[in-house]
Amino acid sequence: MKVAVVGATGMVGQVMMDLLAQREFPVRELLAVASERSVGKELVFKDQKVKVMGLQEAVDQKPDLALFSAGGATSRAWAPKFAEVGCVVIDNSSAWRMEPTVKLVVPEINGDSLTAEDRIIANPNCSTIQLVMVLNPLHKKYGIKRAVVSTYQSITGTGMAALQQMQNERDGLESKMAYPYKIDQNCLPHCDVFLENGYTKEEMKLTQETKKILADDTVLVTATAVRVPVLGGHSESVNLEFAQEFHTTDLRKLLADTPGVVVQDNPDVNQYPMPLYAQGRDEVFVGRIRRDLSLVNSLNLWIVADNLRKGAATNALQIAEKLLEKGVLKS
Ligand code: A2P
Repeated sequence: MKVAVVGATGMVGQVMMDLLAQREFPVRELLAVASERSVGKELVFKDQKVKVMGLQEAVDQKPDLALFSAGGATSRAWAPKFAEVGCVVIDNSSAWRMEPTVKLVVPEINGDSLTAEDRIIANPNCSTIQLVMVLNPLHKKYGIKRAVVSTYQSITGTGMAALQQMQNERDGLESKMAYPYKIDQNCLPHCDVFLENGYTKEEMKLTQETKKILADDTVLVTATAVRVPVLGGHSESVNLEFAQEFHTTDLRKLLADTPGVVVQDNPDVNQYPMPLYAQGRDEVFVGRIRRDLSLVNSLNLWIVADNLRKGAATNALQIAEKLLEKGVLKS
């Protein structure tokens, strides 16, 4: 298959290229695509050098599949042009996620809904993916009435510029700022831009995308998204109120039996998920599972995942693999 990675020089694009190789996705030719600034630069795919090309050149080559992670504006403008030449686009930006005709896919949850008609498929927000991986089985069994989510998000979610900012701060250098404040030794209750309702766009993505993926508008979700000087992944403190009663032992087993979810929850030996150890892993880790003692049928837990892997590149690749499995894409 001819596969384009749009945003190939970026944080997610690089992981996408690594995963295409590692997961032995049937790539006959890889088109590494980035902005005009990077055209001609050399990247490495499967030990071979590949030259970065621009968007139009990639469209002209009519790829079978394009994995986009180059920001919303690029996706808005270019995903339809790729789709027009017969390419399936899996888009990691927020550009298409809430379009009613575009599917927002976490393969373990709604991958079976994909068909040959889907030319642009949206990859959810990183914080949403790890959240719904845990919420979906719980919602099916106990009915989630309300979720209160607080995130602790890695700077890798902001891209290369954020890593650079933190490194420069540590080295005592002045530099271009990816954030309005210093990020090292700090926490910013500010992910993505502020909206008129006082929430950030990231917080509203978590709210709206969760409802769309769970296919249930009645689930109430409220979020506070915080950026922390961490590299390995995003963490989330989640409080859930269920419609039905639950036994913690059953609930724990339900999560342990959920594909893609790993329970790490043993306070006796200080076992709980942490981003340092989730880094480079494809699973979603959950721990600190305990009843909320302040309210009936309610629960607290802690969810961690590598935002560049399951939160972005792994999920996108799994969507592509699902399309292969269904014969929509052919190797
Ligand atoms: P470039 O490196 O040429 O700027 P990150 O968020 O990790 O910084 O990565 C963003 C990715 O999106 C990079 O590969 C970047 O390419 C790419 N990108 C940003 N703007 C555009 C654009 N207008 N057209 C194509 N690619 C873009």
